[in-house]
Amino acid sequence: MKLEQSKLTYERNDLAPSISEDTVNYHYGKLYKTYVDRYNAGEGDPDFNEAGAFLHSIYFAQFQSPTSSNKPTGSIAEFITKHFTSYEKFKDEFETEAMKIQGSGWVYLSKNGKIKTIKNHEIKNDIVLLIDWWEHAWVLDYQHDKKKYLDNQWKIINWNIISGRVGLIVKESQLGIGFIKEIKESRYIQSEGDVKISYTSMCEALYLSVLAIEFISRTKKGQDIAERYARQTAAYSLYDQFRFSSTDMYNFIYFVNASPDRAAKIFNSPDAKSLREKTHLPLMALNGWLISLLSPSNRDLGFFMRLEQALSISSSDLKEIRRMLSYRNPTDSDVSNMAFRILNAYRNKMPQFDLLPDLERICNDKISYIY
Ligand SMILES: [Fe+2]
Repeated sequence: MKLEQSKLTYERNDLAPSISEDTVNYHYGKLYKTYVDRYNAGEGDPDFNEAGAFLHSIYFAQFQSPTSSNKPTGSIAEFITKHFTSYEKFKDEFETEAMKIQGSGWVYLSKNGKIKTIKNHEIKNDIVLLIDWWEHAWVLDYQHDKKKYLDNQWKIINWNIISGRVGLIVKESQLGIGFIKEIKESRYIQSEGDVKISYTSMCEALYLSVLAIEFISRTKKGQDIAERYARQTAAYSLYDQFRFSSTDMYNFIYFVNASPDRAAKIFNSPDAKSLREKTHLPLMALNGWLISLLSPSNRDLGFFMRLEQALSISSSDLKEIRRMLSYRNPTDSDVSNMAFRILNAYRNKMPQFDLLPDLERICNDKISYIY
């Protein structure tokens, strides 16, 4: 899988004086780009370059023009008060942890409300707000004064973006993308040689969840659920090319599309390895599908076929659900048959998945299907 440098959502001189145009030119224009280019060219340490690209994509996505009154609002404000009692205390604690870093690194607010640090580069799945603590991030504008650098970063944080990342936490618990959590964990567990779930079940889980969300979005009661899912995942863009990409989705893709070297470390089973090699996720189509949840009339049904092929789905049950979703004018009994199948597949394949209660609620009453 090739990496792509994420695009800036502001001009290079918009962040001054918190971050000067020269620093953006050098940091974004040269250093970040180099991680992407070197990774794609297979030069240097791929893990280091990939993690560098990953962290910079999160870092540069979270800024806007400076204002001295800039303060957290919305869900992130609540999140900070809950974990740190106040924004001032949060900033103090952030600074304390940052100043402890020796050498190159990063400091971040994690999804569970802790301030954590990263030495050099490392991919982390729990980043909410991230500050680059490598010398290149501050030396040009602040010389030795790292404290001042940090103080001025607070003026350019786009708290809507940060709230979107916190929104994802809400989404995980309310909508239950729990199975992808399992994928996420399994990636690490598998790398240590303790295989927990099979690759085939992961692919089936992803596919079933897409089918189920599609179904939910077509019911009157489920529209807001699907819309929330679409908005929250879209808000949480890590890599530009994965606009749909929540951390969960990212991890899934990362898992599926891992480089052969890493795949060898991840997968023990030869079967899983060969399956993975055949997998090419239709990323743009996944993205398009997610966006289409916001406008239900405009659906690409071919997408499901492509995803099914990409994930090598062989379950006849899942294929049948996909066929039913493509019915032009389903009768009431088609719809209840479809609901019954999706619900059953969920209960069988993903009993832990916490989208299940929503699905049950929708399916237990008379369903008004609006597609
Ligand atoms: Fe950097």
